[in-house]
Amino acid sequence: MSNAAPTTLTIRQPDDWHLHLRDGEMLKGILPETTRHFARAIIMPNLVPPVLTGADAAAYRDRILAAKPDGSKFQPLMTLYLTEDTDIRDLRAAYEVGLIKAVKLYPAGATTNSASGVKDFTKVKRVLENMAQIGLPLCVHGEVTDPEIDIFDREAAFIDRILDPIRRDVPELKVVMEHITTLVAADYVRTSANLAATITTHHLVINRNHILVGGIKPHYYCLPVAKREEHRLALRRAATSGDASFFLGTDSAPHIDALKEHACGCAGCFTATNTMSILAEVFDQDGALENLERFASLNGPAFYGLPANDTRITLTKGAEVKYPEKIETGAGPVTVFDPAMPLHWSVS
Ligand code: DOR
Ligand code: ZN
Repeated sequence: MSNAAPTTLTIRQPDDWHLHLRDGEMLKGILPETTRHFARAIIMPNLVPPVLTGADAAAYRDRILAAKPDGSKFQPLMTLYLTEDTDIRDLRAAYEVGLIKAVKLYPAGATTNSASGVKDFTKVKRVLENMAQIGLPLCVHGEVTDPEIDIFDREAAFIDRILDPIRRDVPELKVVMEHITTLVAADYVRTSANLAATITTHHLVINRNHILVGGIKPHYYCLPVAKREEHRLALRRAATSGDASFFLGTDSAPHIDALKEHACGCAGCFTATNTMSILAEVFDQDGALENLERFASLNGPAFYGLPANDTRITLTKGAEVKYPEKIETGAGPVTVFDPAMPLHWSVS
């Protein structure tokens, strides 16, 4: 039949606009999972200690390049971790030599290794004004940390209390609201200038029931935590729409199993390995395969002012595709995100 859904799809090579690569043995173990499919990634700076200066970013970039599999052309796009003491001259210098592509704002205490984040937002206003002048984007972890605010409401409260005031104060600042999880955030981003959002693979697939029903599933726990089904559906609509405001940032965040399967388990889903297969399945289910390239390969570079990749990948639909359950690293095993559905799209 001529109107059958496509079974192969060739798209420009995707980029990951939000990725945790860690360091040391973990970096060596998990980097090939990203370089297999992705050309570039925005590298999160929440190491211990964090990536605070241009010198820190250069040293971390060199460690990533040294850990790359032979022959890989993967490019890490480095970021600085914003603090109340960020040095504007150092930041501008790191941007001007092309070393950094964004600065990351973590509200202090919001998530993994965010203790050095920002408490008083007035103290970073001059840094943000300088970033707006030079066109350097700010990536934000969009959750308030106020203990009075319910964890499921922290993203919406962040928009009202922090993000909207920052954008009114510094309207020329380019902002990426990272890993959005709510209908409210999707609507806010869609209708705002100089603002885009990354969406993770896992937030397109799971809602909060996946974490909590039938026993607690630590490998589905991440921050911001997955919300109700209506929010997942809003994220699916945003991602599959092709709207230039939304692009892929996996937030693939490896932790060894011993720290996930724990009385106080770490936040993070590790999706680098199977993300492209899952996304193809999701876009296929929603009849939107024609927009997968926009979401994974075109909208991100356009927002960051970079060219799309010249290289391409081909996705092919066929028999069920299996991925390893775990990646063995020198730091310990890391469980690969389980999409809880069969996958049929392989990547080459
Ligand atoms: O789930 C998460 N894990 N969310 C974050 O914001 C940080 C990340 C990590 O570094 O583990
Ligand atoms: Zn993250």
